[in-house]
Amino acid sequence: MAETVTSAAGAPTESGSSDHVIQVEDLHVHFHTQLGTVRALNGVSFSIPRGKVLGVVGESGCGKSITGLSIMQLVPHPGKILSGRIYFREKAGDRPVDLLTYDRHSPEMHHIRGKNISMIFQEPMTSLNPCYTVGNQIAEAILLHQTPNRNEAKEQAIEILRRVGMPNPERIYNTYPHQLSGGMRQRAMIAMALSCTPVLLIADEPTTALDVTTEAQILDLMRELQAEIGMSIMFVTHNLGVVAQMCDEVAVMYLGRVVERASVDEIFYDPKHPYTQALLRSIPRLGTNRKEHLEVIKGSIPDPYSTLPGCPFHPRCPSFMPGTCDRIVPEETIIAGTVAHSVRCHLYPGSTFVPPSTTESANGAAVS
Ligand SMILES: Nc1ncnc2c1ncn2[C@@H]1O[C@H](COP(=O)(O)OP(=O)(O)OP(=O)(O)O)[C@@H](O)[C@H]1O
Ligand SMILES: [Mg+2]
Repeated sequence: MAETVTSAAGAPTESGSSDHVIQVEDLHVHFHTQLGTVRALNGVSFSIPRGKVLGVVGESGCGKSITGLSIMQLVPHPGKILSGRIYFREKAGDRPVDLLTYDRHSPEMHHIRGKNISMIFQEPMTSLNPCYTVGNQIAEAILLHQTPNRNEAKEQAIEILRRVGMPNPERIYNTYPHQLSGGMRQRAMIAMALSCTPVLLIADEPTTALDVTTEAQILDLMRELQAEIGMSIMFVTHNLGVVAQMCDEVAVMYLGRVVERASVDEIFYDPKHPYTQALLRSIPRLGTNRKEHLEVIKGSIPDPYSTLPGCPFHPRCPSFMPGTCDRIVPEETIIAGTVAHSVRCHLYPGSTFVPPSTTESANGAAVS
């Protein structure tokens, strides 16, 4: 067994620490369908330091998008947020607000969505209204949150379309979403999400439909805005190269849980969880022998309708320990000698547990 763990003191999950823009704690989201219950999120916990970029990675279906949608309170029907806390802090030093104490249709959530937190959706058409021109939709968002002046809003909208690399942004302003290519729609949506200079941007695979040149341009723009306005980003991607380029920290998800989180360097050079290690072995790396075959992660993600006892990765894990991994759910533990490298795996036992934090949120939520 490689390393022991320290006590949870100093865990990165204290709601009281003022430099986290968002802190998700023990989030559970289920979809009750005719075929059964999909446990999309099974106790997701992570936080994003202000002004930093958190990469969220994991195989398809592990809950990345549902995590982002939960923060926005936009989980689609029949999904339900069963429990958990999502603390948001607009400015450093503010008391945290538990977003889950607000109704999804409340004025508070309307204000927070778009003004403070915006999302680039994985599927562009979900956030573009086919009945309005692209420019109209971006300008409306600016009018709602930034300036009451229509001309100014139009100018700002055209400027942001230019910054996301739209050719002839004045013309695109008057174009309807269906008249654009997939990549252009994605850029229009990115422009809409960035137009309000949010405190937190949730970017759900924002560049998948783009060619590499445009992708690089968009990533640069996000970095620029991040530096300009101190924006924090939750960056969901399958591309570990983009993670290395864009992110400060990484959360690795598996079957509705964060199984490891650490700085980018620690994830790439000293991954702890067997799932993270397998994920990294499945991508090409510079300097490795070209003839070497990339490893495929054994098996596939279990059926989301089933529930597995113990660690959800145990049927695929090369370090599987019978009697432990298939029986006991591993708690989140902090790796010794690190500030914020945590893992959920029985290979790293010890004082194990990161306890739920205790704080009182600004909106008086009962938190444990
Ligand atoms: N509308 C829905 N009805 C039922 N189950 C759903 C629905 N939306 C998502 N799920 C389930 O929730 C789980 C998490 O889905 P999610 O979309 O968050 O995955 P993801 O990690 O974003 O995957 P991908 O990388 O493919 O985008 C999956 O098992 C999925 O089947
Ligand atoms: Mg997704």
